Amino acid sequence: MQGWIPLVPDSASTFSWKVDALYFYLSGVTLFFTLLISIVLIFFVIRYRRRTPYEIPRPIAGSHKLETLWTIIPFLIAMTMFGWGARIYFEQYKPPQNAIEVYVVGKQWMWKLQHATGQREINELHVPVGRKIKLIMTTEDVIHDFFVPAFRTKADVVPGKYTTLWFEATKTGTYHLFCAEYCGMNHSGMTGSVIVMEPREFDNWLSGNASNTTPAAAGQQLFQTLGCASCHGANGEGGRGPTLAGLYGRQTPLESGQTIRADEAYIRESILNPQAKIVAGFGPIMPTFQGQVTEDQLVQLVAFIKSLPGGGTTAGTPGGSPAATSAASPAASGSPTRNAR
Ligand code: CUA
Repeated sequence: MQGWIPLVPDSASTFSWKVDALYFYLSGVTLFFTLLISIVLIFFVIRYRRRTPYEIPRPIAGSHKLETLWTIIPFLIAMTMFGWGARIYFEQYKPPQNAIEVYVVGKQWMWKLQHATGQREINELHVPVGRKIKLIMTTEDVIHDFFVPAFRTKADVVPGKYTTLWFEATKTGTYHLFCAEYCGMNHSGMTGSVIVMEPREFDNWLSGNASNTTPAAAGQQLFQTLGCASCHGANGEGGRGPTLAGLYGRQTPLESGQTIRADEAYIRESILNPQAKIVAGFGPIMPTFQGQVTEDQLVQLVAFIKSLPGGGTTAGTPGGSPAATSAASPAASGSPTRNAR
């Protein structure tokens, strides 16, 4: 696309042509009406100019038919923009299930990235072509914004929460990565590159840097040292605290009567602010870990909890044997958890 239109960035993801098509449609509609209105305006100025100083124009009574028409036509055109834009938006901001996950932590003024296998990168992201990549992003300080123009996608990176971004690169190469949210003095220098590689090349790259601990393994260490295991069990099997094994992605009933799908954001919140959403059957006894864990460590804890297998006995299997879980479930034991300490 960039060859014949100057200023249009490289087109290298499955979103690119969709966003471009919408963009050119919007530009086309804008251009069409700008020209139409300008031409009609000039025509009317000449055609209906005052010809003599004493001329009195014919009064105009108005036309309901005409007014209805020029209300309905713009409405329909605006709705095509809304419908088309919403479709692309929902596709872009609903991450797919089967994606490769990469953790991103922004800070003034750099991007820190870590692959699920443990490899860390600064201001560079290596990804394979033709695979869905999901970024789980947060920041240590102010709001940043992860923006890859060639992929036609961007998302804010916000303190205190996780945002996600996904894409599938269609072309190998090196593409610009920008911070697209003003974040202080060196905002303009907070750049990097996304390197899209052939899958085999990527596997080589990944194994060539394999000396790191995976985020999940580092999280397991933390889980022990922070004492999480004393309530949640060494492998998240539960105890005084809710079962964590198989938690990720599961519908979790809360004490408030609501149900929440356990995603990264929920796990993160439950570490920093355990009282916010208490699991049904448990008391508000967990202390906060606010200020005790860094964003990097939070990412590791979340990765560890996500890595815990469901085990089949607790994770939404209504047909499963209840006896197998009763020891780990205070709701079943009948004794109030509030007194557990
Ligand atoms: Cu980070 Cu602008």
